[in-house]
Amino acid sequence: MLRTRRLRKTESIRRLVRETKLSVDDFIYPLFIEEGVNIAKEIKSMPGIKRYSIDRIDEELDEVVTLNIPAVLLFGIPSDKDDTGSETWNDKGVIQQAIKHIKEKYPNLYVITDVCFCEYTSHGHCGIICDNDVDNDATLPNIAKQVLSHVRAGADMVAPSGMMDGTIQTIREALDGAGFYNLPIMAYSVKFASSFYGPFRDAADSAPAFGDRRTYQMDPANRREALTEAGYDDYEGADILMVKPALSYLDLIREVKDSTNKPVACYNVSGEYAMIKAAALNGWIDGERVMMESLLSMKRAGADIIISYFAKEVAKVLARK
Ligand code: PBG
Repeated sequence: MLRTRRLRKTESIRRLVRETKLSVDDFIYPLFIEEGVNIAKEIKSMPGIKRYSIDRIDEELDEVVTLNIPAVLLFGIPSDKDDTGSETWNDKGVIQQAIKHIKEKYPNLYVITDVCFCEYTSHGHCGIICDNDVDNDATLPNIAKQVLSHVRAGADMVAPSGMMDGTIQTIREALDGAGFYNLPIMAYSVKFASSFYGPFRDAADSAPAFGDRRTYQMDPANRREALTEAGYDDYEGADILMVKPALSYLDLIREVKDSTNKPVACYNVSGEYAMIKAAALNGWIDGERVMMESLLSMKRAGADIIISYFAKEVAKVLARK
């Protein structure tokens, strides 16, 4: 008889044969930065997560740095929106100021910026609207402008999340043309039109005013198309490929991983966070254990990097062990 239980007998032997381990090194912590002063406002549907103004952000950053989390991913919430999202390329905009502040005060914290328009446009879509839909090619030059503005402010990496075709090539050319040939791109390559983004849209004030995102984000039913998206971003020069959301798409994390030699990231999105928090707050599940188990499943599926609102909590659990 095959005795698989022999190697499960004690925690010591289980530690020796454990195939996958989470580390604080795997995590990126997302941050919402709102224009204004003295803001540290809890997001109702994301217990424990707040929107901060720049003058209050150190409360959060001190903890992130103390916990040794390597990177943050920044989302901006501007006070002024317009139909093109022009605040995204304002060199004095909220994100640009936040980047400068962070790089000055915490030079070793790696700063990644989300590159999109939905938090900055009056209509809440991820680009320029033409005939009731986002115009792909009209949006591309604005993506380049936004990226260059982030990078001039000191961003270490850019992460385009808008799902426009040709995004990676556009950004690579813009960066190289401006001399930023060493600046990496993390592509939201496989990003689905998902209902798991609900709490984020409250948090970032970015829900579309009409329609939905299904003409640019992917259909959750499509596996081969996911590999086409990832393969093309890889070819266009993305440095890291991302799958988003994570939990319902573990199969695709694995398939993307097997299809590339580049690092693969996944985004453990707001709805995944909210579900665990809600159940835990009701006493229905052990929140900490379910958190660790679900993050471990992402790593086992093939994620090298996990973007998660749980990053600080995981770091604390791992430091205890
Ligand atoms: C912006 C963007 C979204 C998320 C990350 N970047 C929302 C969306 O596409 O509607 C979702 C993150 C989350 O749910 O945690 N394009």
